[in-house]
Amino acid sequence: MRGKKVTIIGAGNVGSTVAYILAMNGACHEVVLKDRNVETAKGKALDMSQAANAARMHTIVYAAQKPEDITGSDVVVITAGSPRLPGMSRDDLLMINAEITKEVIQDVKIHAPDSVIIMVSNPLDVTTYVALKESGFPRERVLGMAGILDSARMAHFIFEKIGYGAGQIRASVMGGHGDDMVPLPKFSTVAGVPLTDLLTEEEILEIVDRTKHGGAEIVGYLKTGSAYYAPAKSTAMMVEAILKDTKQIQPCAILLDGEYGHRDVVSGVPMVLGAGGCEKIFEVTLNLGQKRNFAKSVESVKSMIRVLEEKNFFN
Ligand code: NAI
Ligand code: 2OP
Repeated sequence: MRGKKVTIIGAGNVGSTVAYILAMNGACHEVVLKDRNVETAKGKALDMSQAANAARMHTIVYAAQKPEDITGSDVVVITAGSPRLPGMSRDDLLMINAEITKEVIQDVKIHAPDSVIIMVSNPLDVTTYVALKESGFPRERVLGMAGILDSARMAHFIFEKIGYGAGQIRASVMGGHGDDMVPLPKFSTVAGVPLTDLLTEEEILEIVDRTKHGGAEIVGYLKTGSAYYAPAKSTAMMVEAILKDTKQIQPCAILLDGEYGHRDVVSGVPMVLGAGGCEKIFEVTLNLGQKRNFAKSVESVKSMIRVLEEKNFFN
């Protein structure tokens, strides 16, 4: 049987940490690191292959030196781009990262036409939209990573507030990966106990606000880059669910085609992840306020897509 192969385009902080997690888990047989800085990719790949040997794992990590090196990839993760720097909003990255996405997708389209693409580069929902349009892949095979990360951040903030239940907290965040993301306290639980039974409205609002700005909080400390451990773990979870066909339910970004009343826009929704990428989308019942917040989040993604359209980006 052919071994599983994962390509990671962008061997920076997030990309190389995803590769490291996959190599340490033995989640696949080959990890290909592709970066415009080939020497850096080579050095990191060699280092990780040696780490895999130390861990008695079979995974081989190597750097792509020509476009065909990504041939046969089951999953392609795209983290190529510019990171968010202090004072820079996710939206400031729009044009730079949309162009980079357009460029790197060309090789994926030619050399890994059957892969599932996982976008990570920001602004996440827009780069996912660009990857979908530029690849021509069906929407089920072009997903974005954000919901798992944002939910993990919310879970951690809940733990900090209550002081118990670490590892038993299930937080729920939908919508885009921007300041308008939609944390859903009513769908969040601690070992099955609804969050709304554990905390006051004011405490929950604090958690919601901190979750929305979870990325910026870390940028504020790091100063020269953005978060990568939780983003990489969240991405690796998507990769593993696809490679192992686990049918796990996770919140991920995908093109909406009428779900939640929206179409031709990417947003984060709960879905089943399996070998085919997204195998089912769930339309959970939202109340009026939640629907309004989701619509606001969708509108902010649409407004960025309109910026690209006005610049004839898709022509
Ligand atoms: P980084 O700067 O450490 O790595 C980016 C890498 O992309 C660099 O190694 C760079 O050489 C490479 N690159 C740039 N253009 C390329 C091209 N055309 N072809 C191949 N490689 C190229 O940045 P980091 O921290 O790894 O973040 C990567 C992206 O992921 C950023 O856009 C960041 O905002 C985003 N991000 C998204 C998250 C999410 O939740 N969706 C979470 C964390 C980061
Ligand atoms: C984050 O949320 C920068 O989007 C990235 O950490």
